[in-house]
Formats: sequence, C-alpha cells, structure tokens
Amino acid sequence: MTLSRRNFFKLTGLGAAAAATPGAFAQNAMPGSADAGRQAYPVQPIARLDALVVNQPLDFAYPDAGSACQLLRLGHAVPGGIGPQQDIVAYSILCPHMGCPTSYESSSRRYKCGCHFSVFDPEMGGQQVIGQATQDLPRVLLELDDDGSIRAVGMVGLVYGRQSNVMVQEVSA
Ligand code: FES
Repeated sequence: MTLSRRNFFKLTGLGAAAAATPGAFAQNAMPGSADAGRQAYPVQPIARLDALVVNQPLDFAYPDAGSACQLLRLGHAVPGGIGPQQDIVAYSILCPHMGCPTSYESSSRRYKCGCHFSVFDPEMGGQQVIGQATQDLPRVLLELDDDGSIRAVGMVGLVYGRQSNVMVQEVSA
C-alpha cells in the first residue's frame, strides 16, 4: 500500500498542526525529514565574486560558527554552480562518515578525508567517489547579488553530527 502525501498528513495530524502554526515547516523542511522543525536558514554574506581565485577554496562557517565550509570557484560550469560561469559551489567540509575535516586537493579537484580515506567530488555536487562515507558532502546553497557579493542561503544534506542543520531555539515565556 502506498501512502499519499494527503493521507500522511491526515494520519499523523501534521496537516492540522501545520495549518494552525503558520511557518512551522518553512522553506524545505518536511515533517519527518532531517530538517523538520528547523528554523529558516540565515542569509550570510561570504565573499565577493571578484575576490575568488579558480581552484583555491575559501573558508567560511555556515549556518553557524560550528560548521566549517568552503567556497570554491571551479572555472567551468558544474551542477548547482552559480555565477556568470555557473562554476561557484560551496560545501560543508566535515566528512559525513565520522566528522573529520576533509581537505581540498587542487591537483585532483577532490575533497579527501584523511581519517578513513573517503573522497568527494565538488564538480558533481559533493558526490562521494570512494571510501567509508555513505553520503555526499552537504552542499551550501548560494546566491549572487547584483553587486557581486555571494551569500549562503541554505543547505542540502545534513552536517555531520546534527539532527537538524539549524535547530529550533526554545522561546521562554
Ligand atoms: S571520517 Fe571521513 S572517512 Fe571516516
């Protein structure tokens, strides 16, 4: 038996809850998904387009200070790339296997994890190439402003060790 989206909401009562709480499942968060219950992602300026050097990653943190990421201009169009050449991407650099920081190797254009040797391809959306990991590198969603500034606006995939990339904060009465 397949469960339609409508019946899922009926059976779980989430449809009524969502209707009663506007914005409860904002943006990409789906009930039952890893991002359910998260707040909206922050919009964070990262760098200017003219400051990027092809094949040289730029460190930043997103969606908070505990989540190391890198911005990368690859010099040719890639899936999910932004900018005039569709060549700018960004990823969490924490390995999805056990959270070791991966390193970008400019000669092979791969992210490599020194802990258990997983390898990821930033030219293919952070796809895992080989190794112990079972997931791709989480991708940071980017936007380019008219003034040439690049900003982070969201993520696809779960940062290692988290149940949600952006957690709901308790609001005291
Ligand atoms: S932590 Fe990266 S492969 Fe194990």
